Amino acid sequence: MKAPSNIAFLKYWGKLPPSGDDLDRNLATNASLSMTLKNAVTETTVDAASSDRDELWINGTQANPNDIAKISKHLDRVHAYFDRPRRACRVVSANNFPAGAGIASSASAFAALTLAAAEHLIGGPGTREWVSSTTADVSALARRGSGSACRSVAGPYMKWDGRHATTIPSPWKLHDTILIVSAAHKGVPSSEGHKTAETSPLFETRLTRLPARLAAMEAALAAQDLGRLGPLLETEALEMHAVARTGVPPANYLLPETLRLVEALQSLSQRNFFFTIDAGPNLHVLSEKPVRADLEKILDRTRVSARIWDDETGAGPSSF
Ligand code: PMV
Repeated sequence: MKAPSNIAFLKYWGKLPPSGDDLDRNLATNASLSMTLKNAVTETTVDAASSDRDELWINGTQANPNDIAKISKHLDRVHAYFDRPRRACRVVSANNFPAGAGIASSASAFAALTLAAAEHLIGGPGTREWVSSTTADVSALARRGSGSACRSVAGPYMKWDGRHATTIPSPWKLHDTILIVSAAHKGVPSSEGHKTAETSPLFETRLTRLPARLAAMEAALAAQDLGRLGPLLETEALEMHAVARTGVPPANYLLPETLRLVEALQSLSQRNFFFTIDAGPNLHVLSEKPVRADLEKILDRTRVSARIWDDETGAGPSSF
């Protein structure tokens, strides 16, 4: 089962306090909006394990006990959802993009795991039927594994408000050219960032501003107007990082290279591409036309070396 990553236009940053009920896990303090990616995917299979313990292989390597515990918990959820006896599973998963670097690997990973576990329990045709008839349930189940995973179960654009995400249909195709300035694993996991968000003196003001920003983004999306959407993307990304950086303890995801690129983009008098940044140092540059050549010039000029990942609007999970 293949599930894509997504890039948040309006970010999920901060969780509601835990209620103690796993059904309420990862409920966000604000609604968020994202574009489903096409190329950055996690491919996962779930089969019966040969022993009585869950096994997990990630990118060909046996995973550590911490990661196994997380997927075991999620397998518990999927078994409980379908009311099936819990048997040990062998999970084999691979990302085709660097993990932990601001391309949401946990989003694609938990979306793919949710679908692959369903396929293991109810079969391919059953999973197809389930996904098309109850996207809300699929999304809510994926959310309990990782919040942003609820926006990776469909496409092309997703709005997450409350317990699950819903599809925003649109014919609009955008490119997301990702400038990977570092693929090293991020120092502060986003789960920590969500916890400290509310300690930032900027957090409450941010929450009051978000409904208007979300409405403006949805309007720009409906009008397919990148000239309106772009500046909103940039303000939103910089605000989320300002909240992260002023939390206690601070979560600093941006590298000097990230800031050099941000300044270089902001200093252009005219442009048809706009950035956003998730919880990592890498820039996602959104545009209607391919802009790789323009970005290579900017990288040259700023002397920043980055690997470039070309992505675009995607339709959602595949191969089931
Ligand atoms: O789903 P998590 O816990 O990895 O959090 C995702 C946080 C951001 O990527 C920064 C924003 C978002 O909405 O995806």
